[in-house]
Amino acid sequence: MGLFDNMLHSDQSLFKNEVALSYEFIPKTIPFRENEQHHIASCIKPLFDGRTGRNIFVFGPSGLGKTVACKHILAELEEQTDDILALYINCWKHNTSFKVINALCDALAYRFVQNKKTNELFSAVRQIINRKSAVFVLDEVDKAEDLDFLYSILEEIYKKAIILITNTRAWLSTLDSRISSRLMPEVLEFREYSKAETNGILSERIGYAFVPGIWDKDAIQRIVDETFMRKDVRLGIYLLKEAGSIAEERSSRRIELRDAEAAIGISERTAIKGSDRLDEEDRQILHTIESNPDSKIGDVYRSYQEAGGKKGYKTFQRRVARLAKDNMVKLERIAGGREGNTTIVKAVRKGRGEKSLTEF
Ligand SMILES: Nc1ncnc2c1ncn2[C@@H]1O[C@H](COP(=O)(O)OP(=O)(O)OP(=O)(O)O)[C@@H](O)[C@H]1O
Ligand SMILES: [Mg+2]
Repeated sequence: MGLFDNMLHSDQSLFKNEVALSYEFIPKTIPFRENEQHHIASCIKPLFDGRTGRNIFVFGPSGLGKTVACKHILAELEEQTDDILALYINCWKHNTSFKVINALCDALAYRFVQNKKTNELFSAVRQIINRKSAVFVLDEVDKAEDLDFLYSILEEIYKKAIILITNTRAWLSTLDSRISSRLMPEVLEFREYSKAETNGILSERIGYAFVPGIWDKDAIQRIVDETFMRKDVRLGIYLLKEAGSIAEERSSRRIELRDAEAAIGISERTAIKGSDRLDEEDRQILHTIESNPDSKIGDVYRSYQEAGGKKGYKTFQRRVARLAKDNMVKLERIAGGREGNTTIVKAVRKGRGEKSLTEF
């Protein structure tokens, strides 16, 4: 056998379909969430008969399929009928009533949004939706800074089913009576996956994403064990991707235990969940901050530039300030000192009782 026979050529890849490892990917089926999906579907069902639906509050820890199960339902709904609008809003991205309603305008392809106030926009949205009926998925709804939009939907949309998603049940008891008495949701908990279920989900994803037969068994097992221990399938999918990239980087034709180990090592230093709402630039900035813990903002910026970052200092500062506002990093002002005032940028660390980046 030649020296290079076992090496991956530069035009070859271990990935068959890398998109299947992206956060946006919705698999054809969502195994082990059939009961949950049936429960949610039963709340939507009355809409098919021209009646209003029921509301449902979905909660459970991070990375357990809440979002993907609901998006999958919306996708099926869109396949089946044009009479029921399928509206998904992430209230972390769109965290005020104004932004939520703008996002609804977008989803409904309503373009005349300029210079309109929130209530004017809602009126337009209401008119469009009330010609039909609608399913609203309000994901991460506990991140919304105000709930006027929810009140308006409850009051002014006639035929609807509202699915609300959060990580903890506690949010429900914080609702004021104006909203809770109108919402009256059913409650559905997404429980943790067993180890066999975790294995099933990750193995299926490997099938979607990788060239067949390139994973060593012990590498898969290592990632399944880690994912099960950390109770987060999002992490598992990230590990699959990372391990594949690491194996490719060393031109290996197989993904081995050491690649899985290396991927796990990286994951312990990186934020995962927060990443799905960040653009590339934010991700790069966050990554630089994590690689330069507790550094002055000027030093972090230099490091960012060295890593190929293209934004100017002012934009960089603005982006960091926004990450701080979203609790992804912490900023500490240090007054005086040899170089005058400066800001220290800290990564938000994982730890008990503290919000970790993977928990957003
Ligand atoms: N049963 C499943 N089948 C296939 N993929 C799954 C399943 N459960 C989770 N996943 C995948 O795991 C990742 C995380 O799932 P998802 O985004 O739905 O988590 P979540 O419960 O909404 O978490 P969070 O509270 O952090 O938003 C996604 O990439 C999703 O496709
Ligand atoms: Mg989610």
